[in-house]
Amino acid sequence: MDKDSKKFYITTPIYYVNARPHIGHAYTTIVCDAIARRKRMLGVDTYFVTGTDEHGQKIERSAAARSMTPKQLADEVSASFHELWDRMGITYDGFMRTTDPRHERGVQQIFRVLRDKGYIYKGSYTGQYCVSDELYVTEGGPGTPCPECGRPTETVTEENYFFKLSAFEDKLLKFFDENPDFIRPETRRNEVLSFVRGGLRDLSVSRGNVKWGIPVPDDPEQVMYVWLDALCTYMTAVGYGAIDKQGQDLFARYWPADVHMIGKEIVRFHCVYWPAFLMAAGLPLPKNIMAHGWLLFEQDKMSKSRGNIVRTETILDVLGADPLRYFLLREVMFGQDGSFSFDALVQRFNSDLANGLGNLASRTLTMITRYFRGEVPYPSATASRTPSDNAIAKLADETIASFNELFEQYQFSKALEAAWGLVSAVDKYIVENEPWALGDKQDDQSRARLATVLYTTAEALRIVTALVHPVLPESTAKIWSQLGLGDIRKFPLSGLKWGQLQVGTKLGKIEPVFPRADKSAVERMQTLETERNAPAAAEAAAATATQSATVTAKGAQGAPQAAIATDPVTPAITLPPGVPAPSTEIITVDDFAKIDLRVAQVKFAEKVKGADRLLRLEVDLGYEQRQIVAGIALAYTPEQLIGRKIVIIANLAPRKLKGLESKGMLLAASLQDGAPVLASFLEEVPVGAKLK
Ligand code: MSP
Repeated sequence: MDKDSKKFYITTPIYYVNARPHIGHAYTTIVCDAIARRKRMLGVDTYFVTGTDEHGQKIERSAAARSMTPKQLADEVSASFHELWDRMGITYDGFMRTTDPRHERGVQQIFRVLRDKGYIYKGSYTGQYCVSDELYVTEGGPGTPCPECGRPTETVTEENYFFKLSAFEDKLLKFFDENPDFIRPETRRNEVLSFVRGGLRDLSVSRGNVKWGIPVPDDPEQVMYVWLDALCTYMTAVGYGAIDKQGQDLFARYWPADVHMIGKEIVRFHCVYWPAFLMAAGLPLPKNIMAHGWLLFEQDKMSKSRGNIVRTETILDVLGADPLRYFLLREVMFGQDGSFSFDALVQRFNSDLANGLGNLASRTLTMITRYFRGEVPYPSATASRTPSDNAIAKLADETIASFNELFEQYQFSKALEAAWGLVSAVDKYIVENEPWALGDKQDDQSRARLATVLYTTAEALRIVTALVHPVLPESTAKIWSQLGLGDIRKFPLSGLKWGQLQVGTKLGKIEPVFPRADKSAVERMQTLETERNAPAAAEAAAATATQSATVTAKGAQGAPQAAIATDPVTPAITLPPGVPAPSTEIITVDDFAKIDLRVAQVKFAEKVKGADRLLRLEVDLGYEQRQIVAGIALAYTPEQLIGRKIVIIANLAPRKLKGLESKGMLLAASLQDGAPVLASFLEEVPVGAKLK
């Protein structure tokens, strides 16, 4: 970051609207939000932009596949990004959609400028195009895989407008040379350098056979290439192309951007095309492009097409936004790929937030309340001081310095590690000084010592809280007000140093900030995730089920096939191997009505000791929770079942299995080898629903 800059403008990529947001998108947005919040606390005039990328063939096709117009799809998905960021308390200043008329005007303006300056010409293009990445592929023929995503490219033959990218090869290399920090980290910079050194071809910047886009000025048969359209958002979001003074002032105030934060897969567009467009238009270039790594789930990049996404809402529902923010910034080495798992998230939450910062806050504040009527006590300057107090004060000042430096270098994980170094040192200090023991004594010396110890812990708590506020905005705001310090967002971070906590400060109402999460938090998140992804999974399952339907009917305990032929009532039918004969006993509707079939959700599952095949389940019927013992342990693990919705016969007479009472029976198809497959639903069903 440019430390001397008086203003700071930061952007996320603008996200495609063919997929709903997942934690990969949230990652970039959270990083930008933390940086922006910190800049504001440092008193810097900050502007933070995000938005949605809504045009192009990819969106056109996604919409068609869902029988929607591209605009309907864009409206729906853009709103879901907007809502999610609001729910998470993301402090964006601008949210730009590429379908916004202000943006469209700006993009047409830049196109005119490029054309008037002689950098655009009409030519014909035959080549390969990857619709998924909206990327022209330099070499290859029909079906050549896209170098970015590996999907087959399509051959495109069109009369297009071209941008003279080839004219910028040397200019770009010179610029990279003069601005070594333009592309970060170093690995990405090297990739870009070798790409540009390999030679640049002119770039097609319009499409003739795509309708969903911004029309090229004076040639409405052509629409703008999506990447030209999308990149310009960074400028139109701060008023480029505005006809009103307010928009023009905004542009003058914030452009060029200080940081474009992006994922590593879109480096070429940002580090080659974008600076070349800007150079050609005679506009200032952004100061820095920062490309981070990918969030992986099960070793693969989390993405909709791979079907391995985790939705942010799932984590918000169970733990809230702060734990996710902390986890992503602490766990992932910024710039590198990082893994996500619910287990790791909950572990971090418990160890660093509930047991770490949360515990420090509650211990400190509770003891000040108990021993000093909720007012910050006076730390003795002489008599009751020990070297351990001074050591904490010194460490706190060092932590401020190192946190600041590391954060400015985007080393979020190390910065947080430094802050938590102070948290653990204070924990140790508390244990060693035993304030609870001092509190039991009434003599003056013990009182003075207790005051010093509690002042020291409270002051260290204040410092950590202020430092990590940009990462944990909601919870630190609570701790801050419990410390009696008001609105943390107004705190001038640049002046933070040891000793500012005023003696006599009256604490606010004390409440736990990070209630410990138990194992059920992981289970709840997994359940929510399964439910959220159920429609897609169900489609896939339905396809598989149809293919294998012949082997899934009851087999093991069914009547042997030979019996069918001798049964006088049953017409001679041929059954697939292992499929039992249909029942010959006819029942009435009234008979069936006696069976109370219900949807139940498995809340808990465990193996039954001494019985290989049995699982003990606790299921929720909406109106009651009950125990069922089922012979499905060879087919399902307890983990697979927790959270799952199943069907049970709710009014079956209870019976005992291995000494355990089973109140009901679950429904499953039984395969030829006797393996059960649980009955389930393709649509969402409420717990307790009756089957009729
Ligand atoms: N619309 C383009 C960007 C245009 S910017 C002018 C685009 N959109 S996207 O919806 O695919 O978003 C990509 C960005 O989302 C990544 O560059 C990254 O910032 C974020 N991420 C999406 N999935 C991610 C991970 N699995 N891991 C980390 N970040 C991820 O590309």
